[in-house]
Amino acid sequence: MTKLEIIVASTRPGRVGPAVGGWVEDVAVRHGGCTEVELVDLAAWNLPFMNEPNHPRLGQYTHQHTRDWSAKISEADAFVFVMPEYNFGYNAELKNAIDYLHGEWQYKPVGLVSYGGVSAGTRAAQMIKQVVTTLKMTPLPEAVSIPFVGQFVNGDELTPNDVMDSAAKTMLDELVRFASALAPLRTAAPAE
Ligand SMILES: Cc1cc2nc3c(=O)[nH]c(=O)nc-3n(C[C@H](O)[C@H](O)[C@H](O)COP(=O)(O)O)c2cc1C
Repeated sequence: MTKLEIIVASTRPGRVGPAVGGWVEDVAVRHGGCTEVELVDLAAWNLPFMNEPNHPRLGQYTHQHTRDWSAKISEADAFVFVMPEYNFGYNAELKNAIDYLHGEWQYKPVGLVSYGGVSAGTRAAQMIKQVVTTLKMTPLPEAVSIPFVGQFVNGDELTPNDVMDSAAKTMLDELVRFASALAPLRTAAPAE
């Protein structure tokens, strides 16, 4: 049993994130390596700036939105982050959503689908590895990097090229392998 959550990181009006996320969801369902695939849209979650008084590793959450977010992330065995590049980095809403929690992320692999202009979001993808490894997540080197994302998006739809389709399949193959390999660590007592 592997549950994949695909987190759409961008939240601004007019964003292309849902189009990219929708394509990743289709690919993941067709891939078939995960028993469940869910799209998690940070815009719909609408989390405020992190407002918990205690360190998340204590799990002593005082707000219902944090308890709900904790339950959602706890359900997953693996993630794909669908992430834009903003000013050579990843977007603040994604960092905020990560910072709310601690043990919920641990021992779970994450595939990075980044997009932007000429860099294809690769600077944002490199930057987030430092953060997710601190939470004992395993970011995969196999990734999808989409340059000049606007050329692939029409409204809510993304039309991929062969390179993107193939990269997504390779990334999902590895994500499933890592989700399975890390499962014993996820069932053990959470580490500090
Ligand atoms: C605030 C902001 C900063 C951006 N900075 C970069 C950047 O540093 N590199 C890049 O390739 N694209 C950059 N872009 C272009 C975005 O990657 C592109 O607009 C993309 O569609 C943003 O994702 P979104 O539509 O899901 O928000 C930036 C866009 C915004 C809104």
